[in-house]
Amino acid sequence: MKALNQVAVDIPRSGIRSILDEAANYRDVVHLEIGQPDFPTPAHIIEAAHKALLDGFTGYSPNAGLPSVRKAFADYLMKTHNIEVSADQIVVTVGAMGALFNAFMATLNPGDEVLVPNPGYPNYRMAISLMHAVSVPYRLDVSKHGFSLNVEHIESLITEKTKAIVLNSPSNPTGMVATSDQVEALVAVAHRHHVYLISDEAYDQMLFSARHVSPLSFDPDGNVFGMYSCSKTYSMAGWRVGFIVAPKRISPLMAKLQEAYCSCAPTVSQKAAEAALVGEQTCVEAMREAYRQRVEYACALCEQMNIEYVRPSGAFYLMVKLPNHISMTSDDFALALVKSVQLAVAPGSTFGSQGEGFVRLSLCCSESIIKEGLQRLHKVFANPSVLR
Ligand SMILES: Cc1ncc(COP(=O)(O)O)c(C=O)c1O
Repeated sequence: MKALNQVAVDIPRSGIRSILDEAANYRDVVHLEIGQPDFPTPAHIIEAAHKALLDGFTGYSPNAGLPSVRKAFADYLMKTHNIEVSADQIVVTVGAMGALFNAFMATLNPGDEVLVPNPGYPNYRMAISLMHAVSVPYRLDVSKHGFSLNVEHIESLITEKTKAIVLNSPSNPTGMVATSDQVEALVAVAHRHHVYLISDEAYDQMLFSARHVSPLSFDPDGNVFGMYSCSKTYSMAGWRVGFIVAPKRISPLMAKLQEAYCSCAPTVSQKAAEAALVGEQTCVEAMREAYRQRVEYACALCEQMNIEYVRPSGAFYLMVKLPNHISMTSDDFALALVKSVQLAVAPGSTFGSQGEGFVRLSLCCSESIIKEGLQRLHKVFANPSVLR
């Protein structure tokens, strides 16, 4: 047999997968590892999908998505973020991940460099290497008050080979939210160096205090790609719908690329997304408020239990610092945690070298589960000898 695609073979497995596999061997596991919203998709969205199926939306749609859905997303951007783009700049994708993959396909040649956040969403690195391009991590600064973007540091990493910068605000796993000044400065850096800015805004509705600022606010038709998702906003992870907003001159290319790997986003899911976008937004507010309360609750418990953590400003994750007396890698620690006390968390190193020394807790569960999880973690921090 001839060799498989070596890049695909060599891509490291996510550390979260190993935890999930191990967790499958135990009962009464507290699951704080997966970033999957625990709320059901709101009923009016499910009803719209049902109606769409009965109405015959069961075939392919145009590559770029149904015109009414592209228009609904353009209206959403105006309504929620005051960003004016035309529907022909929008491509409906298979989740934000499909949007990211498409943007990397459209922009990257082999050997190109892409600046990615560290700690950051690991799928960027996977997708970039599949393009035979190179991820160059930029660090996020960290203090107890949160992770933050360092635009000067990002600029210092730009070389002749840099093709794009990935921004993720609010961020997974850190909950970092970039300020308006930082976003504007990053847009200026991207302009100055003629590189693309790929802005992953999958958590654009998951901010607890600050307002979300998209780079598209400063550059709606230049070199910025905005990536959005229904997965978190409307609790629709399994429906697989997201959106790219691309510069006008590039969006036809992105529509064409859909043909090469998915043809189009699932048509029935597009109709569901349309109902989500044009319908009442009270469900979004209710879910955001629930996540905000859980984050507050988890932070308060950490304070009480003397667990060191970094406060998030958005998304629904909590980065917890491993105490100095635990001299294990985050991978080994997370695995031992499942085995010893049946608590599943994401090892920080999965998100890059700067995630080492942390574990990420996903707060997609009730307060009682969060409490049980933190109690188990506290027990292990107080007495690491229970670790197997
Ligand atoms: C930062 C970030 N971007 C993109 C995605 C992908 O989202 P989707 O389900 O829309 O593909 C996720 C999912 O967890 C994420 O955390």
